[in-house]
Amino acid sequence: MEKFNIAIDGPAGAGKSTIARLVANTLGFIYVDTGAMYRAVTWSILQAGLIPEQESEVIAMTRELDIRLEPGPSGQQVIVNGRDVTLDIRTVQVTSNVSQIARIAEVRHILTDKQKLLAIDKGVVMDGRDIGTHVLPDAELKFFLTASVKVRAERRFNETRDRPEVTLEQLEQEIAARDQMDAQRTHAPLIQAADAVLLDTTDLTIPLVVERILELCRTKV
Ligand code: C5P
Repeated sequence: MEKFNIAIDGPAGAGKSTIARLVANTLGFIYVDTGAMYRAVTWSILQAGLIPEQESEVIAMTRELDIRLEPGPSGQQVIVNGRDVTLDIRTVQVTSNVSQIARIAEVRHILTDKQKLLAIDKGVVMDGRDIGTHVLPDAELKFFLTASVKVRAERRFNETRDRPEVTLEQLEQEIAARDQMDAQRTHAPLIQAADAVLLDTTDLTIPLVVERILELCRTKV
């Protein structure tokens, strides 16, 4: 199959990463999780004892970071300056700070440049918030995945085993707050690209969404 790029955007918990990974595996394309890159920066900032408000320090640190996404036994491994942080970037602490880091314009420029390079040879399925609008505006196929906040919270609730103390309502509030911050920021906010296909996954299973995306991919061959 000839290579092309696929952009998948949408709010937290819409199933983007699972779906993007399955699509990439089926097509033999490379999957790139850009959220993991923002999380890697956030983890590094917190490790260094910084807070998101220390913008110039955050930017300086982001410039120096060597972030690599490598295929691994359990999906994509995230390596920062040689250290495997795949699990560390999924903690509550990182999740609750990442949107504040992601609103800093210069952090976005640095990561966007890296992301564009990863897709330069095509054959990439990239998921995030601004892929169709800013990172890969020329992607051959663009999707915007969404689902009701209730269903997204339920999915996270059922898959999150490390926070037994969190209620479904709390999770729903956290997801809604993160979406709001991502959608309202000035630089590259979460928004559907004009030429993206909207897929509401509220009542759809993952295999059905993957099949819908693959159907549209076949029209590109
Ligand atoms: O996809 P994930 O939920 O892991 O993303 C974590 C956060 O990273 C998002 O809530 C958002 O603040 C930020 N992000 C972004 N732009 C992207 C990908 C993620 O701002 N392309």
